Amino acid sequence: MKIIGIVGSPRKIKGNTGRLMLEVLKAAEKEGATFETVDLPGGTVLPCKACDTCHQKGFCPQKDDFENIKAKIMESDGVVLASPNYIFSVSAQLKAFMDRCCGVIHRMAFEGKYGASVVTSGGGDEAQVADFMNHFMIITGIIPVGSVWATMGKISGDEFPAEILENAKTLGRKLVHDWQNRILPPDIEHRRTRFMERMRRLMIYRKDEWAFEYEYWKKMRKL
Ligand SMILES: Cc1cc2nc3c(=O)[nH]c(=O)nc-3n(C[C@H](O)[C@H](O)[C@H](O)COP(=O)(O)O)c2cc1C
Repeated sequence: MKIIGIVGSPRKIKGNTGRLMLEVLKAAEKEGATFETVDLPGGTVLPCKACDTCHQKGFCPQKDDFENIKAKIMESDGVVLASPNYIFSVSAQLKAFMDRCCGVIHRMAFEGKYGASVVTSGGGDEAQVADFMNHFMIITGIIPVGSVWATMGKISGDEFPAEILENAKTLGRKLVHDWQNRILPPDIEHRRTRFMERMRRLMIYRKDEWAFEYEYWKKMRKL
């Protein structure tokens, strides 16, 4: 299994979130996976310009790292998304990347991949950030297997406590296991099917404007 870990923090892989993400990835590695990490420190993936090119032609014309990272995800079997809690949400750095996935979302083009989310915060409220990241995965086609988080204000020093480390390792192992066994929990299947139906209707409605996406749907799925 090939996994890509993406961390949306200006503190990159050495920050709190990056370090927790690495624990997940190393546990997956012990189960036979290989991994690569990508930092989103800001500026390497710019905000969406709403030009519509992705819907019409299938790529983003902005000259930054986005298309390259998208291609890396397409070549991977697993995706770990990691973000600090910035004002009860994901960081702007990760959100810029998510917004740029608008065309991916219309096609649910990451279908078949498995994912996990990682959050750290100063004071808490990580669950809602993780839920949002997991929802993003579902609408891109990725099956999320779970989340891990850490409240840094409750931790003294640089080491994560044993319980959080164990949660991270369990998540890494689950990511590999669920991908190997193609596990699809009924609630995730339901949410994914519902969103796919919504995108199917959207494609029919916008077929004249969004030629690339319409053709993709005709070729890959029923319209
Ligand atoms: C702009 C900004 C906003 C933040 N907002 C919150 C917040 O709303 N709640 C919280 O508990 N921590 C908040 N934090 C703290 C970070 O989530 C926390 O320090 C996190 O572990 C940083 O991860 P990193 O080292 O990977 O960047 C914020 C930090 C920054 C810089």
